[in-house]
Amino acid sequence: MQLYFAPLQGYTTALYRQLHHSMWGGITSYYTPFVRIEKGDFRRRDLSDIAHENNIGTPVVPQMLPRDANELQQLTELFLNNGYKHADINMGCPFPPVALHGRGSGLLPHKEMVTELLHATRKYPEMQFSVKMRLGWEDRNEWRELIDILNATPLTHITLHPRIGRQLYKGSVDIKAFEEFCLHCSHKIIYNGDINTPADVERFTAEYPAVECIMMGRGLLARPYLSTLLSCATTISPSEIIERTYTFHNTLYNTLKATSQGESQLLQRAHALWEYFLPQAPHKERKAVIKSSSARQYECATEKLFATWHADCDNIEVM
Ligand SMILES: Cc1cc2nc3c(=O)[nH]c(=O)nc-3n(C[C@H](O)[C@H](O)[C@H](O)COP(=O)(O)O)c2cc1C
Repeated sequence: MQLYFAPLQGYTTALYRQLHHSMWGGITSYYTPFVRIEKGDFRRRDLSDIAHENNIGTPVVPQMLPRDANELQQLTELFLNNGYKHADINMGCPFPPVALHGRGSGLLPHKEMVTELLHATRKYPEMQFSVKMRLGWEDRNEWRELIDILNATPLTHITLHPRIGRQLYKGSVDIKAFEEFCLHCSHKIIYNGDINTPADVERFTAEYPAVECIMMGRGLLARPYLSTLLSCATTISPSEIIERTYTFHNTLYNTLKATSQGESQLLQRAHALWEYFLPQAPHKERKAVIKSSSARQYECATEKLFATWHADCDNIEVM
């Protein structure tokens, strides 16, 4: 089973990806959050996120969010100029400001636009392309209109998140529609969606042995060590997991501290981390981290959280 780290705008930054790769490993590729064109130009933070010097040693696939063939060409050239040989095309983003402007999953009801977009990939034989998509924007059957053009395009794989765009992340994934998609798709498929624990991976691989690749997003933000546990033959004790997670957090926090402009930016960035991080950590201590209103308070609260968790690791869930 190969594991891919999903792109998560605002979370899986170059810093995060590099640190995750060096501390935990077990990931075949890290997908960058989408790079897009805004007011005719690239965004500065996107350029920095994909820059070669910020990604050395990490297996990274940059992702683009094009609306048409022209944007795809500009973005492909940007990626080529940064030394990439593989680009992922986002046809799944569900956020209304993106989708309602014909990007991400907003492309899926428009067969001609998808055809034109995918056709443009043929101008770049030196670049390999993959697609990350949902079943549709409004209807779970929209993919059926696109499957011939997807099959006819040379792609390394398709990552499917089996929801429709309108759902955002609500409701459940449509596993029956995923099965149908697999029957009709001639490309390698990576499954993505709501796989959060080793038990979820076990269930999925038992049910779908032919699907050899899973992409995980929020589950890895919550438990960054899952990639080690899933890829490593030897077991790691709960206390060791907590010790290594403590080092992972502190390294990340100290880098944020060194690169933030002022305490309020630091706190904002550190608090954002905890939106998904370690939901199973001791509740009272986790709440104190989230409520901290100064760097000093934040640091004391995280120290206490890891110490409490470590002292009681036989009773508090880790996995
Ligand atoms: C905060 C957030 C940001 C995301 N950013 C991106 C993105 O930039 N590109 C993309 O293809 N998907 C993005 N996604 C979708 C994830 O890659 C993934 O498909 C989704 O979270 C479902 O997988 P999961 O259940 O394993 O988290 C984002 C999701 C979230 C919650």
